[in-house]
Amino acid sequence: MRNKIVAGNWKMNKNLEETAALLATLSAKLPDTGAEVMVAPTFVNLPGAVRDLESSKIEVIAQNMHFAENGAYTGEISGSMLQSIGIDTVIIGHSERRAYFGETDEILAKKVTAALARGLRVMFCFGEELEDRKSDNHFAVVERQLKNALFSLDAGAWSKIILAYEPVWAIGTGETASPEQAQEMHAFIRKTITDTYGGSIADNVSILYGGSVKPGNASEIFSKPDVDGGLIGGASLVADDFIAIINAI
Ligand code: PGA
Repeated sequence: MRNKIVAGNWKMNKNLEETAALLATLSAKLPDTGAEVMVAPTFVNLPGAVRDLESSKIEVIAQNMHFAENGAYTGEISGSMLQSIGIDTVIIGHSERRAYFGETDEILAKKVTAALARGLRVMFCFGEELEDRKSDNHFAVVERQLKNALFSLDAGAWSKIILAYEPVWAIGTGETASPEQAQEMHAFIRKTITDTYGGSIADNVSILYGGSVKPGNASEIFSKPDVDGGLIGGASLVADDFIAIINAI
C-alpha cells in the first residue's frame, strides 16, 4: 500500500541559523500521524540538517542533483555526493528548475535514471502551466511529462518513485487547484501509469499534490482518494503552518 507523505521544499530560503532553528522547532513539535515527513533545505545546509535530525523521524531530502557522477560541471552536485552525506531522496523536475534553469524532459529523464541507478529515491515533479489548462491541454501535457521522463523505466524502478503533481499556476501564487481538480488529475495520472505498468504499480505509487497548500485547505485536498499527501513550499517555512499541514494528513 502506498505511503502518505508531507514534504517541505524550502527552495532558496533559510540560512544556516534559520535552518537549524526551524528544524529544531519541527522536530520538537512533530506529530505522529503515520505519514512520512520530509524537508528539503538548500544544498549548503544539508549536512547540518542530516546531523540535526539524526534522531528525528523527519527525513532530509535534496532539491536537485546533476546526472553525472562527477566532473567539470561547475556549481553542480551529484547523486553520490548527496548519498555521501546521508541523503536518500532527491526532488527532480521542479517547475522552477524547468522554467529558470532550462531543464527539459530529456535532461530530467537522465537525472531520474542517474538517481535510480545510485539507489536514490526520486520525488518527480511535473504539472501544466495556466495556458495548458485554459486550452484544455492539461491532461496531454501531464501525460507527456510523465512518459518522457519516467516511462522508459523498468517496472521495478517504480518502488523508488514518488510523484508530485504541481500545476505551475498554483505554485507560490496563493491560487490552489480545487480538491476536485487535484483528484481528477491524480486519478488520470494513476490511470496513465496503470495503462503502461499495470494496476499494482499504479496503486503503490504515492502521488502528492503541490501548489499553495496551506493549513486552511490541506485537509480537504488530502481527503481525496488519489491524493497521498503534499509538497509544500511557502507554508513549510513557518513551523506552525507546516505542523498544521502534517496534522491534516
Ligand atoms: P508553494 O510551493 O506551496 O509555495 O505553492 C509548492 C512547491 O513549489 O513545491
